[in-house]
Amino acid sequence: MDTQDATPVEQRDIRFAGARLPWHLIHLETIGSTSDYLKQNARRLPDRTVVAADRQTAGRGRLGRSWSSPHGGLYMSILFKPSPPPEYAPRLSLLAADVLCDLLAEAGISAEVKWPNDIVTGSRKIAGILPEGGSLPSPWMVLGVGLNIAIAPEIPDGRALEASCWGAWASPPASMDVLASFLRRLDEVWPDRDDNPLEGRLGSLHSRLWCLGHLVRMTRGPESVVGTVSGIDPEGRLLLATSSGMQAFDSGELRPV
Ligand code: BTN
Repeated sequence: MDTQDATPVEQRDIRFAGARLPWHLIHLETIGSTSDYLKQNARRLPDRTVVAADRQTAGRGRLGRSWSSPHGGLYMSILFKPSPPPEYAPRLSLLAADVLCDLLAEAGISAEVKWPNDIVTGSRKIAGILPEGGSLPSPWMVLGVGLNIAIAPEIPDGRALEASCWGAWASPPASMDVLASFLRRLDEVWPDRDDNPLEGRLGSLHSRLWCLGHLVRMTRGPESVVGTVSGIDPEGRLLLATSSGMQAFDSGELRPV
């Protein structure tokens, strides 16, 4: 879909008490991908633009996968321009996961963070996060967040986990209410983009780490390593205790063994 054709359902600024800067919300009914919309329009859109869509027709996930995006979910992307330091991308992704877990916990839903960027409830994936960055025309970062609220979409065969949704565990909220809570909390816990997103969050992430203390298989391209999930380091890397010692991974796909 040509992003120029997307007519906003609403467009407004959101400013939270105590926050230094507003968020600029563009709420669309349908778009290919909220992250693609921001990437294609980054030149003209201001810093802290948030694009949300009720439905995506070409939602994208990690590793070139699709992200099923029917009505009944939250699909949003945030533009940071100027970009935080590029090495913060995986840390910001983990911080966003921790914030989403906070929101789920407030609704009584216990969730885990499946490194690097999935949220899991009851062994099923409820949310995914996709950080992307670039340098043209000036450095930018886009943080994409997909959360299943009313519907758990079918997951193609071969994926590590089936899908879950908020409504399977508690009364499903309106997606725009979740968006506002997410942005408010992000402002609280990460007030300045030059702050390390994981500052003060490692304890919380550790307590929510999927498969902590369990054997997993980490796959990166043709390589795979089996080890016990042992934690996340300050750079956001996953620590696995393997037969050849502790190893830190900055990318890869986890599966239970
Ligand atoms: C993953 O789990 O692989 C990451 C999924 C990220 C999906 C979100 S939905 C909003 C934004 N737009 C996209 O096309 N992808 C992200």
